[in-house]
Amino acid sequence: MKVDVLLGLQWGDEGKGKIVDVLAPRYQVVARFQGGPNAGHTLEFDGIKHVLHQIPSGIFRSEIQNIIGNGVVLDAIVFKREIENLAKYNLDLAGNLFISKKASLILPTHALLDAAYERSKGDSKIGSTLRGIGPAYQDKVARLGLRVGDVLSPNFADKYKKLVDAHKVILDFYSFDYAAVLPQAEENFFAAVEFMKQFKMVDSEYVINDAIAEGKTVLAEGAQGSLLDIDFGSYPFVTSSTTMAAGACTGLGISPSAVGEVFGIFKAYCTRVGSGPFPTELLEETGEKMRQEGREFGATTGRPRRCGWLDLPALKYAIMINGVTQLIMMKVDVLTVFDNIRVCTHYRLPDGTLTDQLPYDLCDNTAEPVYKDFAGWQQSLDGIRDFDAIPEQLLAYVKFLEAELQLPITFISTGPDREALITRETTALLN
Ligand code: GDP
Ligand code: IMO
Ligand code: MG
Repeated sequence: MKVDVLLGLQWGDEGKGKIVDVLAPRYQVVARFQGGPNAGHTLEFDGIKHVLHQIPSGIFRSEIQNIIGNGVVLDAIVFKREIENLAKYNLDLAGNLFISKKASLILPTHALLDAAYERSKGDSKIGSTLRGIGPAYQDKVARLGLRVGDVLSPNFADKYKKLVDAHKVILDFYSFDYAAVLPQAEENFFAAVEFMKQFKMVDSEYVINDAIAEGKTVLAEGAQGSLLDIDFGSYPFVTSSTTMAAGACTGLGISPSAVGEVFGIFKAYCTRVGSGPFPTELLEETGEKMRQEGREFGATTGRPRRCGWLDLPALKYAIMINGVTQLIMMKVDVLTVFDNIRVCTHYRLPDGTLTDQLPYDLCDNTAEPVYKDFAGWQQSLDGIRDFDAIPEQLLAYVKFLEAELQLPITFISTGPDREALITRETTALLN
């Protein structure tokens, strides 16, 4: 069988956790392929709301193998806390959760380095989640990093000390005081590493390729979103991993020819946490209304998310670089409160020309969005499961997007709960 990839097409927080949880019963394996505890994936069902940071979102489905892939950066302390928070659900975590030996370890000093680098940037800071993501990937690429498999080595403590000593030199250079916090963090880290050893540490590329060979179905779960990708995002305001579909190959050890469906998830509007360009951002009360209505506050850091209208040039770009085969539109219910819904179809460049391509540098703020207006539906979507029952204004919005994006929108999400979903897989699409 093929590996289906599910990823965010915007700046993260599109609702990936909800959709992985919904689709998981169709799969036997769910595998995270990049990112780390900067991710916050929310699942809601049976009145329970749960946020996952390190653990794949298939974990609540008891028959599924969940894999933390080699492309992930793993914080053992966050991992331990997450496992402890899941204890009340009586899941077979030891049986169903696998960690790649090749996943990179986030050390306590990586988070301190994140803070030191951000502080040194002043007003041009990235707005990182400060979880140590960038510094951990930096060490991986510099061929200095520690990996999950290293914790099984008898000289793990020596390897740890060597790397942390190098980090201390950098922290001293930035005059970053670590003495007060590091000893406790290190104690927690070594306790968490011991805790982690009760889980299966595997060569996950074999586990996944064996699963494919046995005809099992695999879903690769992306974190962040395409506009935060290290190569194709709004650099330097990006994360430090490959968030696009190609990242599933390097982050799990599968061949490009093994990829089947690519599910691209987007909100019916846009949000962004942290700094960086956002052409359709709404800075006044419309943005605040969207934030309140969509409860747009970060699942990892609690920060208010910046809000704005849907950006088609950005979405088309994300669809192109990922080879998306199906679209999933999220949080449509949030737009119910607006009588007029705007969609950015093009950017106007300083010389007056219109383009629907992303300029090289969005940071210079010269791309001015050009909007098309849609009448809002202004009626509750609660309880609607059938596409034929949606308001005509929403139908017009969906049809317009499908024609522009040249892809079917196969699911429309109308609320945080697992059940709040309109499924269109069986209806005639693109007609
Ligand atoms: P992820 O990082 O892509 O998994 O997304 P997050 O969990 O960070 O953010 C999505 C938020 O929107 C969460 O609070 C979800 O519970 C919520 N959510 C998901 N789908 C919908 C939807 O269709 N409507 C509404 N109102 N909320 C949703
Ligand atoms: P999920 O998987 C939204 C953003 C941060 C910051 C930038 C770099 O929940 O969609 P980092 O900590 O990676 O150095 O931060 O990327 N960011 C996210 N924004 N959702 C996420 O993950 C994010 N992970 C990182 O806010 O702007
Ligand atoms: Mg999130």
